[in-house]
This record gives sequence, C-alpha cells and structure tokens, in this order.
Amino acid sequence: MRHWLSMLDYEPTVLADLVEAAQRLKRGELGTAADALRGRILTMIFFNPSLRTRTSFEAAMLRYGGHAICLNVGGDTWKLEHRDGVMMDGICSEHVREAAPVLSRYGDLLAVRTFAALEDAAEDAEDRIIRAFARFATVPVINMESAVEHPCQGLADWMTVDEKLRGTRGRRFVLTWAPHVKGLPMAVPHSAALAAAAAGMHVTIAHPPGYELNGTILERVAGWCAAAGTRVAVTTDQRAACRAADVVYVKSWGSAAFYGDPGGQRDSFADHADWTVGAGHLGREAILLHCLPVRRNVVIADEALDDRRSVVIEQAENRMWAQAAVLSHLLAG
Ligand code: CP
Repeated sequence: MRHWLSMLDYEPTVLADLVEAAQRLKRGELGTAADALRGRILTMIFFNPSLRTRTSFEAAMLRYGGHAICLNVGGDTWKLEHRDGVMMDGICSEHVREAAPVLSRYGDLLAVRTFAALEDAAEDAEDRIIRAFARFATVPVINMESAVEHPCQGLADWMTVDEKLRGTRGRRFVLTWAPHVKGLPMAVPHSAALAAAAAGMHVTIAHPPGYELNGTILERVAGWCAAAGTRVAVTTDQRAACRAADVVYVKSWGSAAFYGDPGGQRDSFADHADWTVGAGHLGREAILLHCLPVRRNVVIADEALDDRRSVVIEQAENRMWAQAAVLSHLLAG
C-alpha cells in the first residue's frame, strides 16, 4: 500500500516530480488530477484543529470532481484509541483497528492529522497514531501533520520558493526558530528542512541552545544536502544567518527539555523574545515564509508579515495544489 506519511519514504526526484505536478495543476494543465480525483472520496480525520489543511484538501477534492468528508475526533466522532492491548475503560470509545478499515470501506483515501503530545520526545518520534492508521487502513493514508512531519506543508513550501525565486538549486534557505506562548511540535520545521534539502538548497537552521530538531531528520537533511552538493549548518546566530539568506522560514517549536513543563517553556520563550523576526532580519531580495497560523508580534512582527517580501499567502494557497498532486499520485497508483 502506497501512503504519504513521511518525506523520508520518498526520493528527492519523486518529491520534485510532485512539486512539478502541483505547478502544472496551478497553471491549469489539468491532466492526471482531473482524471484521478473524479468521483473519489477522501475521509479526513482531525485530532487537532485546522484552517488551511482541512479547507485546502476539501477544495482540491471538489475542484477535481471528488468529495471530502471531515471528522473531528472527540467532536463529531468518537474518541479513538490507537495503542495495542489496552483495556478501553477510559475516554476512547473506538479503536483505530476498527475505525481505519471501516472508513477504508467508505472512501478511497484516509487523511489524518495528529499532534505531538510533547511529553516524551522518543514516543513522539514513533508517530504512533498515524502509523496505526497506516497499519489498519486498506486504502492510502495521507499525513495532514503528525507528531514528526508535515509533508504536505513541505511540498507547498518548496513550490513557493521555486515560484518566487525561479528555482531552488543553490539558494540559501534559513529556518529560524522564533518564540511563542506555548510549546509546539517540530513537524513543520522537520518538513521544511527536508524539503529545502531535497530541493537542492543550502540549509541553515538557527535556534537557541536546547531547541535541537530530531536527529534522524537532521541526518537525512545532511544526506540530501551532501548528495546535492550543498551546505548544511546549525547556528545560534539568527541575525547573521537571516541576513545572508534568500529564504527566511520562520517557525516556533518547543524544546524537548521542557516537555511536561509548560511554565519552564514559557520562561524560555520569554528569555528569547529577541528572536521575534522583524523586517530587519530580511535581506533586500529575501522572501519570508511561515506555514500559518502565526501569532503576530510574538513570532513575526507586523512590519515583516506585511512587507512585500512576505509570501505567506501564496505559500498557503500552494497547499491546495501540492495536495492535489499528492492525491492524484496516490490514486493514480
Ligand atoms: N499550516 C497548516 O497546516 O495550517 P492549519 O493548521 O490551519 O491546517
């Protein structure tokens, strides 16, 4: 069964083909997506809220003659258990062992959004909920953001840089950490760094000490950069990194050191309030990306988000085209 769970499961050449397919769809060269999605049903399961992901998947399905069903776990459907061998005498009424195959009988694809628990980094790294869906579904499963990755976002990010800078190879991509009001997962920064490496960019990751990303992801970023002949670096000097960048990608994430300690995490964000990105961080011809939603003047200052160099709206639009390409790829297979 072919799934879309992790960029690690795909070669950069295949990812590049998906980006190119998304761009062709955006230009109106319908082809395979129109054929592949017509009359198909996508079932989306959300363990966590969404504005862009839900709407862009629904829009992609409708645009090409398919249909999408949205279920919010614990809201309009049962709370779901995913662990093996547990006594289900708590808040969960149904197990993924039944839910995934049942939903597979109704539709052609399952898409799942989960969220890192931010209590145990090793447990989050196993991505257990989405892996349980992939294990028990009998149709392809799509990652709409899991504990570890947000691969749809990564594809849209790559597509956006390619459009705005007319190519990605050899561009200087800086992923910079920014403060927040609460701990957030590392899924988006993981996928952003993977996409940048796969796209042939030089990758610099700027964050304060203690905010290291997942080692397995960083190894793959380094491997793809080495294969592309580009550089990879991690730095604590945010301003120097950003000043030298063609692409400044801003994202907040929590430190594993503060998992289970929200007060400590808040204090650490306050200690690094000067990491909020402003217009002064951006080179004259640089572009500014953020996956959204963004907390204005905490993560990025108004002056930068409203600057001509900010491409966050186009980036969000590109989610729809990137996902249409992924849906088409999975269904065509
Ligand atoms: N970027 C993103 O996934 O947005 P939503 O959380 O609104 O879906």
